[in-house]
Amino acid sequence: MCKGLRIVTIDGPSGGGKSTVSRALAARLHFTYLDTGAMYRAVAYQCREKGVELANSEQLAALLQTIQIELLPPAAGEDDVRVLIDGKEVGALLRTQEMGLLASQVSALPLVRKTLTRLQQKIGESGRIVAEGRDTGTVVFPQAAWKFFLDASPEIRAHRRAEQLRGKGEEVDEQQLLAQIVKRDKDDRERTIAPLKAAPDALTIDSTGLPVEEVVRLMHEKILASF
Ligand code: DC
Repeated sequence: MCKGLRIVTIDGPSGGGKSTVSRALAARLHFTYLDTGAMYRAVAYQCREKGVELANSEQLAALLQTIQIELLPPAAGEDDVRVLIDGKEVGALLRTQEMGLLASQVSALPLVRKTLTRLQQKIGESGRIVAEGRDTGTVVFPQAAWKFFLDASPEIRAHRRAEQLRGKGEEVDEQQLLAQIVKRDKDDRERTIAPLKAAPDALTIDSTGLPVEEVVRLMHEKILASF
C-alpha cells in the first residue's frame, strides 16, 4: 500500500524531460497532470502585461489576489496544458525562453510562492495527480507517496530544449541557451525559499543517456510496486 496521498512528484532542473515524462506517467496512471511551472509562468506573464514591478509588494499582492489561473488538458494534437489567465488562453505565450527567465525571477518572491503553493495544494487535495516542478516533493506535497528527481547534464538539457523550441518555430542559439539554462538552474537552486533540490525520500534518476519511455517505465514500475 502507498505511504501517503496518491500523489507523484517529479522535480528537477529545466530541460531534464520532466514535462514529457510527467504527462506520459499521468496518462498511464489515469492521474491528473499538474504543471506547476506553468503557474509561475502565468504570474510572470501577467506581471508583464499589467506593468507590475516585482519589487513593488503592494502591486504584486493586488495582482495575486485577483488573478485567476486555470489549467486545462492539452488541445487535441498538442502536448502542453492549456493555460487560461482571467479566462483568456495564453498557453503558447508562456512557453518562450524569455518567459522562463521571468518566471524564475518571479518564483523567488515569497508572496508568489505562498499563493501558488496554496493553489497547488488545493488542486491536489484528493490525490491522483502527477505534480511537476522544482519543490513539489519538498514543499508542496511533502506527504506524496512517490517522489522523483529527474536530472540530466546541462548540455543534453540545452540540446533537448533547443529541439523543443525549434519544433515551435523559435530560432535558437544553443550555446546561449546552455548559458541561460545554467544560470536559471543556479538561481533556482540558490534561492533561499523553496530552492530546487531533491526531497530526502525522492528517487533521483539521471536521464542523460535514457530515452523518455525508459524513464517512464522505471517510474511506473516503482509506483506499481507500492500502489
Ligand atoms: O518548469 P518551468 O520551466 O515551466 O518553470 C519555470 C520557472 O518557474 C522555473 O525557472 C522555476 C519556477 N518554478 C518554481 O520555482 N517552482 C516550481 N514548482 C515550478 C517552477
